[in-house]
Amino acid sequence: MFVTFEGPEGSGKSSQIVLLASFLQENGFTVVRTREPGGTPIGNEIRACVHNVANTAMTPVAEMLLYSASRAQHVGELIRPSLTAGKIVLCDRFADSTIAYQGYGRGLDLAQLHQVTQIATGGLQPDLTFLLDIDVEVGLARRTGGGLEMNRLDLETVQFHQRVRDGYHRLAATDPFRWVIVDGERPLPIIQKELQTELVTRLKQKIST
Ligand code: TMP
Repeated sequence: MFVTFEGPEGSGKSSQIVLLASFLQENGFTVVRTREPGGTPIGNEIRACVHNVANTAMTPVAEMLLYSASRAQHVGELIRPSLTAGKIVLCDRFADSTIAYQGYGRGLDLAQLHQVTQIATGGLQPDLTFLLDIDVEVGLARRTGGGLEMNRLDLETVQFHQRVRDGYHRLAATDPFRWVIVDGERPLPIIQKELQTELVTRLKQKIST
């Protein structure tokens, strides 16, 4: 099963994924925990480049292609082989991030982005996507206050991040079965319980079909 986690900056995805992976492992599942950009040695090199705050000259199209290149490598080297081996893949961001950030955020053409995404993923779609939803200003304050790694996109305006959040809601509305919107402003253990319950339900559904 392929599960992705999306959301605006500071939505708490990473902490939730760590806890969810432990929960699944304790229950006998083999889990791969990964992220984008990154997840492979080549992807990590791309991550360093695309997030480098010194790369102010990077064009939106170059940015989008770098995220997509990282994704193509990730799908080919890690995600597809893991799914074929029957593992549960928990991925912090995937193709929906490109639509939300480079599409709704930067304003790149959505139809073209879907085409590039199709090439990068080879058509692979998550079985389940959690949208950890959070007020943009609350999320950005969490990031700057939490001493977390800052990247080029963290430096964008509040309006940019608001467009990204709105974009996520539009995406979620197009496929309400795949997307589960989770209120990310609640305490961490409550959110974790909700993720566990939803995932267990989906795993049972998958086993029974
Ligand atoms: P994170 O690992 O802290 O979530 O940071 C990833 C950053 O990269 C975040 O600002 C969102 C951005 N991003 C895109 O803009 N497009 C993409 O396709 C992906 C995967 C991430």
